[in-house]
Amino acid sequence: MTTLSTPPAVHRAEDHQRGTGRRPLPVAIVGATGAVGRTLMHLLVDRGFPVGACTPVASARSAGSRIAVPGGDAVVRDLDTFDFTGVALAFFSAGTATSTRHGRRAAAQGALVIDNTNAFRMADDVPLVVPQVNGHLLDRVPESNLIANPNCSTIPLVRLLAPLRARYGLQRVTVSTYQAASGQGQGGIDELRTQAAAALADPAAYGPTDRFGLPLAFNLIPRIDAMLDSGFTLEEQKMRQESRKILGVPGLDVTATCVRVPVVNGHSETVVLDSDSALDAAELAELFAAQPEVRVWRDEVPTPRTVDDPDLVHVGRIRVDPENPRRAAFWLVADNLRIGAALNAVQIAEALVDRGTL
Ligand code: A2P
Repeated sequence: MTTLSTPPAVHRAEDHQRGTGRRPLPVAIVGATGAVGRTLMHLLVDRGFPVGACTPVASARSAGSRIAVPGGDAVVRDLDTFDFTGVALAFFSAGTATSTRHGRRAAAQGALVIDNTNAFRMADDVPLVVPQVNGHLLDRVPESNLIANPNCSTIPLVRLLAPLRARYGLQRVTVSTYQAASGQGQGGIDELRTQAAAALADPAAYGPTDRFGLPLAFNLIPRIDAMLDSGFTLEEQKMRQESRKILGVPGLDVTATCVRVPVVNGHSETVVLDSDSALDAAELAELFAAQPEVRVWRDEVPTPRTVDDPDLVHVGRIRVDPENPRRAAFWLVADNLRIGAALNAVQIAEALVDRGTL
């Protein structure tokens, strides 16, 4: 069993003051045995979040086992029979079907639910929050007692589009994603590694394809999540609809193509956009660099394996079309397990505590 006392990847002065003087909150982690759940617990420790009793919750498969949690270790509880009464904050990262089945029950039992799935993102009574963009929504607890964490590719995208739109206006966004295997959880990481080993031993071998449906090692898969009647995938539709909701622009013209790539962790995106006014690449770089937790790469290019700080959105290749000054393009890399999932969820919780909402 690993412990959760690993030193933080990023030390920030304010993080370590957060825990002091705050009432420790009873927390439940649904999906505690999964890739996002584990990352989330590490972040709660590393960032000094005031966690009181922490209950790991998962399926009957792992119920009864002991795992490391903030403050020690604890027995994993079975979600089907777990009662959330007395839990102040419940993080859900156990898949959309699981959240659909149990999220509103947990909220009704009194836990403020921060849900990391697609179950409630577009629900009218559930705020969809990226704290750096629409953190004002965390001034009060919603009546639903539910807050949704956006899609892993949407979060870094809107963190850059929001300031750009405020400064220049935004007419159209075309985004292509290059999404890592970890987006399919620990099982996705394991499947990529197994496939890679199989293909190195025998170029004709694929290995298991349960998670991705096709070989991912030494390959690309231009289909993530369900294929819709429109010809777009659900992942692509999420990026359009969620960007609109978070930015508060119902008709925003967003077209996404989402591709799974043989990267273990770290999503990348190519973004091409049309603004209302003429753009300047250097000015755009300054604008992005002024945003919280964003690093602009000017000479080198950020890549999922070589970026050094997983808690930053990394931006590079910022350029303006020489034939159309209202069109810009850039490249971004963001850790999907952290920025795209667990870190955003923890930052929602931190903002609730900092604002006195919780
Ligand atoms: P379990 O370990 O019991 O299967 P990942 O995204 O890395 O695959 O992790 C998925 C997480 O969601 C795991 O913690 C997993 O628990 C949990 N999970 C999956 N299905 C359910 C379910 N039906 N009820 C509760 N937890 C679930």
